Amino acid sequence: MENGGGYGSTRFSFSVIVVLFVFVVAALLPFIFVSFFSMKKICFRKLEINRKPQTIGDFLSMLSVHLFRQRNIIQTVNEVSQKLSFEDIHNDYDFVQFSEQLKAMEKPPYIVFYDSSNLDIFLNHICNLEFIPGALPRLVAVSFDTSSHMILQEKYPKIPSVVIDLDPIKDTLPEAYENRRYIIYQLVLLTRTRICASLALRGISFWAMQQDSLWIENFDSMQLEDRYPDEYMLFDTVGNEQLPEYSRMHGWICGSTFFIRGNPTTHQFFMQLDSFMRMHQSPDSSIMTYLCGHRNYRCHRLPRWIISSSDYFRGTRENTPVMIQVDSDQKDETKMELFQRANFIFRHENGTCDRRAVHKLRDAVRLAFPEKLKLLGQNTYAESIYKRLHYLYKHIFNVDRYNNKVFLTVHYTLI
Ligand SMILES: *[C@@H]1O[C@H](CO)[C@@H](O)[C@H](O)[C@H]1NC(C)=O
Repeated sequence: MENGGGYGSTRFSFSVIVVLFVFVVAALLPFIFVSFFSMKKICFRKLEINRKPQTIGDFLSMLSVHLFRQRNIIQTVNEVSQKLSFEDIHNDYDFVQFSEQLKAMEKPPYIVFYDSSNLDIFLNHICNLEFIPGALPRLVAVSFDTSSHMILQEKYPKIPSVVIDLDPIKDTLPEAYENRRYIIYQLVLLTRTRICASLALRGISFWAMQQDSLWIENFDSMQLEDRYPDEYMLFDTVGNEQLPEYSRMHGWICGSTFFIRGNPTTHQFFMQLDSFMRMHQSPDSSIMTYLCGHRNYRCHRLPRWIISSSDYFRGTRENTPVMIQVDSDQKDETKMELFQRANFIFRHENGTCDRRAVHKLRDAVRLAFPEKLKLLGQNTYAESIYKRLHYLYKHIFNVDRYNNKVFLTVHYTLI
């Protein structure tokens, strides 16, 4: 301070102007963010139709109702999830036995999580795997209700399986409870997170998989977990290279298929995911994307030619990925009906598996959902100057450059 007050009083320093500019821009950034709440991910089921406000008054009252609903959901998810804590699962006798079984397996197991609502799709999936050498011996199952568990055990006694019963918890929520379906959806994903955390703590490496995934080629023979020995986690992503609108969703995790190397770091990853899910209204996949921003977690995204989400069907089909997860976006159609429409049925009525249907799967994938492809031509995605400026700012100031925080808000319109 030798110069006293003589320095800044007479002339403006250039650096002062720069600093002021930075502060002003930083202050404005949150307002710019608000306009991007509308970015949505296609991978998720839309549970409710979006309501549009008419006036500012409408908008404000909707916002307050929305915030109240959101707080209620977060609170309820937190409350119901306490009825089956991480410790409850980790120390459950049957689950400990199941974990021991997995530990003894030669290769990391493929874990499918299911319940009565998707048992038909799961049985269909097993028929897909039956004709893929090496796949079925690695398949294990976690059920969220007893009845589906019994049916699977009866039909496939060799598949290691365990039940983590969520029915008693679901029963505590009345049918008419607001956003009940969404809360249960979150509860199921939270339970899956705790199961992953428990297995990681026991040092068990595994693949989490979904029954609505199609195996077009032998995913098993790719030995991906050996191909990336230094990575702790491998994830699938959403999007499609053919559509420019996905370029801003670069690296967004889909979360239907992922590999976890069981160690203390991945255990911590899932414990963080657990607490995050109880404090925010975000899908687990967007939280995983966010957490993966930390490089010590060693997350790796698998290319889409290996695993694609449903976004694959929006593009042309010259190349088929090794695996595709199929989401349904229509409410008036069951998943089974959707699979029927697309010729993805591998199981006869009498319970035997249809080898021909699996062999013809590549063709079925090429022809499936032509209506999605038709949209490709009409879809001229162009970014406004405003939007590009917004991203330029984000890039310069290194604020959520990859939209990982925007992704956290992707479910806000569902409730
Ligand atoms: C099951 O149904 C399929 C197709 O209808 C038929 O080809 C097959 O022989 C049947 N298998 C048994 C064991 O009945």
